[in-house]
Amino acid sequence: MGALDAKVAAIDPTLDLLDEIERLRKGRNAVILAHYYQEGEIQDLADHIGDSLQLAQAARDTDADVILFCGVHFMAETAKIVNPDKVVILPDLDAGCSLADSCPAEKLAAWKTLHPDHVVVSYINCSAGTKAHSDWICTSSNARRVIDAIPPETPILFAPDRNLGAWLSKETGRDMKLWQGSCIVHETFSERKLIELKSKHPFAKVAAHPECEPEILQYADHIGSTSSILRYTKESGHKQFIVATESGIIHQMEKANPDAEYIPLPPKGDNCMCNECPFMRLNTLEKIYLALRDLEPRIEMDGDLRQKALVPMERMLALG
Ligand code: 13P
Ligand code: SF4
Repeated sequence: MGALDAKVAAIDPTLDLLDEIERLRKGRNAVILAHYYQEGEIQDLADHIGDSLQLAQAARDTDADVILFCGVHFMAETAKIVNPDKVVILPDLDAGCSLADSCPAEKLAAWKTLHPDHVVVSYINCSAGTKAHSDWICTSSNARRVIDAIPPETPILFAPDRNLGAWLSKETGRDMKLWQGSCIVHETFSERKLIELKSKHPFAKVAAHPECEPEILQYADHIGSTSSILRYTKESGHKQFIVATESGIIHQMEKANPDAEYIPLPPKGDNCMCNECPFMRLNTLEKIYLALRDLEPRIEMDGDLRQKALVPMERMLALG
């Protein structure tokens, strides 16, 4: 049993975790930020729920003393980059990301050396080290705006998500070389099952995240970030949606538009929950309670690295 599991096992079972979290949140002057891919019960206790961009902005703007990030490591690290004086805690340090892992800083640096005339745009799903080697950071909600801000004749290296990169290159017609990373959740969706669902529900609209493979995106009625997909299901007026992103977001969809039906797109494999992000789902009420109680695990960062990672982040945030 790992140290964190042992701490979880030692929690007094008679404690009301929600009451304890509330007490500690106030006592610590903490803000709880949660991504849409968290469990519904975690989304419901957060001060801010959002996509990666909204959460980075909330982290930058908070005047709380402690930022408890219910998301994955690169998100908590981003919070530290934009707001270094705060204590930033992540309930489980093992909450990583397959995209971030696919693109270590030194490999991006080597790729950059091979293409010195290119501008490097990195998706926010990457480590601080990788950010530090990038000219721009983007999220799925502002990626187009970031690409449009780069002079049209400038070629682009895009890392680490090849699916988001391919979709952006098609949308903008830009010359982009793509790092070959992908998200283990979004590459899991089955085209065959999507075709079956579409014929069974002919009026259902397909809402997809651009991290999905092109085979899935070709059927999408709407492609966008988690917040954009959520807005679409709330405002488009349709009544049935096939949701091609991590299924945690359906919690907010049901709250925002309870009259519609949301069908999570199944993964290729049978009997697996592969449309749930295993990293995001490491966060639990127990670990949130422990993180607030002990103010750990903390995100710490070398000052020089932070300054370098901040430059492309600020360029992005300045776009609004
Ligand atoms: P957004 O919330 O920015 O759409 O990103 C989704 C994601 O994969 C987060 O890890
Ligand atoms: Fe990373 Fe994919 Fe999980 Fe998002 S859903 S944190 S991109 S592995």
